[in-house]
Amino acid sequence: MAIDYTKKVMRVFRNPKHFGEIKNADGVGVVGNPACGDIMKVFIKVGKNKKGEEIIKDIKIKTFGCVAAIATSDTMADMIKGKTLKEAMKLTNKDVAKKLGGLPPIKMHCSNLSEEGFRAAIKDYEKKKK
Ligand code: FES
Repeated sequence: MAIDYTKKVMRVFRNPKHFGEIKNADGVGVVGNPACGDIMKVFIKVGKNKKGEEIIKDIKIKTFGCVAAIATSDTMADMIKGKTLKEAMKLTNKDVAKKLGGLPPIKMHCSNLSEEGFRAAIKDYEKKKK
């Protein structure tokens, strides 16, 4: 069955900007999608903005998954970079799907992987900080 992705999804999928790894990352999130077995790894570097709030200074991802997982994780990285940790934690898979012009309903579970991956990286950072 052919899946009907938007042009935006296909564009990001073909040319993701945030793929890679950060050595000495401040936080790392590793999540798996129980529905399909795909895996995502998220690396973050945390810095501070002018107000002294903690922000996502840099972000890299490794996604071993489908078109939707690759497109949503890269787009989420785009949306999260430069945001405060609080703002980043508020972003949901629905926001990302919207930014991509929507996802086919059977592919929404793939965008969960992105949301969980980013949140896991931030939580990892907060745990290490204590
Ligand atoms: S099918 Fe596994 S994340 Fe999309």
